[in-house]
Order: sequence, then C-alpha cells, then structure tokens
Amino acid sequence: MTLLKIAQVGTPVLRKVAEPVSPEALASAEVQTFIDDLVETMRDARGAGLAANQVYQPIRICALEVDKNPRYPYKPDIPLTILVNPVLTPIGEETFENYEGCLSVPDMRGVVRRHARLRVQALDRHGKTIDHETAGVTAGTFAHEVDHLDGKLFLDRVTDTSTLCTWKAFAMHYEDAFRRNVESVVARYGS
Ligand code: NI
Repeated sequence: MTLLKIAQVGTPVLRKVAEPVSPEALASAEVQTFIDDLVETMRDARGAGLAANQVYQPIRICALEVDKNPRYPYKPDIPLTILVNPVLTPIGEETFENYEGCLSVPDMRGVVRRHARLRVQALDRHGKTIDHETAGVTAGTFAHEVDHLDGKLFLDRVTDTSTLCTWKAFAMHYEDAFRRNVESVVARYGS
C-alpha cells in the first residue's frame, strides 16, 4: 500500500468536477489498487472520509469510515464504504448544523447546514449497486465527501464566517455545545 499526498486548499484539482468511472476502469487493477491506497491514506490521516480528487485523482470515487475516530470523537461510526459515481438526493426538507473540518483545509472548522436525510445511490468498488438512505451526522459526512467530487469545499457552504475557527479554538469554545447538538441529531435520526 502507498500513502498518497493530500491536496491542500488552493490546489486546482480540489476545484474540478471529477470524472465518472466506467465499469471497465473500476474493475482494473490500477483503480482497485488506488482504492486500497485511498483507504490507507484516509486511515493514516484519521479522516472520516477522503475523496479521490483530494489525492490528485480527478475521478468520482470516495471512501468513508468512522470507527471511534479521535479526530471526531462525537461522530457515530460508519462502516468502511466506497462510493463510485455517487448521487445524493435529499429526502424531505429537514436540515441540521454540522461543525465540519477537512483534511484539505488545515486547522480550520466551520458551521455548515446539511440535509438531515439523503438517498445514496452509487456503485461499490466491485461495481455492485448501492441504494440506501442515510441520516443525521452520517448524512453530513456523505454530503461533505460527495461535495469534494463536485469541486466544492465545506468552506463554500459556511454562511456565517464568524463560526470559522482553528481546531484548538473549536475545542475551547464550541465543542461542548456542538456535542450537545450532535446528541440531539443522533437521537432524532439514529445516526
Ligand atoms: Ni473534506
């Protein structure tokens, strides 16, 4: 396995709409190895997710996994998930406020409004159809990763820039209140 370099905000590849992956390309040894490396890189950096264009591959693949993540201790667990050519569709009108961070945006967090329920349609790494619903904080994580594939960063969705803060300031001033918000979101949506 190879740890990949993670592009930082300002790098043009983060701002390009990533290209769909054909079934043939997905089945190739090259792309399968890339997915293994993407997962290893996400785990090494303790990300909750990582999109291919964050590691300089402008293709529509992202990985998600939360397993008692110390970077996001309040996030409900997400089993390892690979999404290929994902499409997210909001279900209903409900939204919630999520305090997000990103491996491509060093030492910065901010409040983003996300849909509380989403339909997730994609292929898995073996080309099998994924079609399920996700909700709550986990839906926020899915939306953040799929945004990457459309060339968007969470910064673009921060409407109140006074919420922008370093990770240290987050821990000092905002984490307690945000944890309470997460608890109520999880109680409402189950994740
Ligand atoms: Ni990110």
